[in-house]
Amino acid sequence: EKGGYDHFMLKEIYEQPSAISDTFRGRMRVSDGIIKMAGIDDNLAKLLNAKRIIIIACGTSWHAGLVAEYIFEELVRLPVEVEYASEFRYRNPVIHQDDVVIAISQSGETADTMAAIKLAKEKGAFVFGVCNVVGSSISRETHAGAYTHAGPEIGVASTKAFTTQITILSLIALKLAERKGTISNSDFHYYLQELERIPEKVKVALESDNHIKHIADTYKNARNFLYLGRGYNFPVALEGALKLKEISYIHAEGYPAAEMKHGPIALIDDQMPVVVIATKKGHYDKVVSNIQEIKSRKGKIIGIVTEGDSTVKELADHVIEIPETEEFLTPLLTTIPLQLLSYHIAVMLDKNVDQPRNLAKSVTVE
Ligand code: M6R
Repeated sequence: EKGGYDHFMLKEIYEQPSAISDTFRGRMRVSDGIIKMAGIDDNLAKLLNAKRIIIIACGTSWHAGLVAEYIFEELVRLPVEVEYASEFRYRNPVIHQDDVVIAISQSGETADTMAAIKLAKEKGAFVFGVCNVVGSSISRETHAGAYTHAGPEIGVASTKAFTTQITILSLIALKLAERKGTISNSDFHYYLQELERIPEKVKVALESDNHIKHIADTYKNARNFLYLGRGYNFPVALEGALKLKEISYIHAEGYPAAEMKHGPIALIDDQMPVVVIATKKGHYDKVVSNIQEIKSRKGKIIGIVTEGDSTVKELADHVIEIPETEEFLTPLLTTIPLQLLSYHIAVMLDKNVDQPRNLAKSVTVE
């Protein structure tokens, strides 16, 4: 059942090229420049007239929501708020009739997300679900939705659900952007082609597995880790830190790289591994100076870089390369090495990777 892999988590990490293809298969016709998704097409007017998008989710799904915030704002020019479902439901949130709420949940059973959906519906919002499990409670409670089609995710640590959530949210953003005219026709076509190439590029990213294993071995006994990123890759830093905490029980924090100087830089010493996502295009020069600040305080740098990078390579203790892609799609690639890093560290520390202590696959209690 684990298909020859030692753990479900590893199997699911390796399934990402096909899971991402399954997410866009039948929905995206690249040669004709068409995105077809029933849940979107049937509610197009509502979505195009939305004044604001509110995304509600928990955990990894919340991180996918944060990536989507950057994507929607950039491509669709719509204001987006991303909320922890557990906070949203206990505030008295301001929701208008012309708000569209997107609820993201792998399991479709998360109690807090469900309660937040009910509240949003009561206040008159249109609620769109992004779920993986077909027929799940959330997929039934929402007005419309789209499944990620990632296939069953058994490992408690979410991996392919995250990348397929980002894939589907990118498709939605692209469709709305094309309709609204907030991106040019040529960009739209180019982005579709680039999205289609992502599964192959994920495969290339997976080829660093052995190299990542060595890095894992070097830092497996660290007590703390920092993960830094900017822009689209800030949420990926949060996700990388969550993955490490969850399965290896090592304390880790994710931060926007530029926030370092407002506090966390005080933590840096020669015992602190810092994973920095420093891909080309994504505020690259700024991230390079953040790396220099860490280096001068003797922190150990693990850089996630674009193929062929030389600047970060000189500064960092280790680099892991990923193929180049359009900036808004980089999270689909930068996430891969972070998943593998946490996986190998957890295995080396002899932790229960697929069923970490104190956690359940779906959190059906508040
Ligand atoms: O099923 P959901 O996407 O609603 O689950 C939300 C979180 O409980 C989940 O993503 C959790 O954070 C994962 N175990 C993280 O790997």
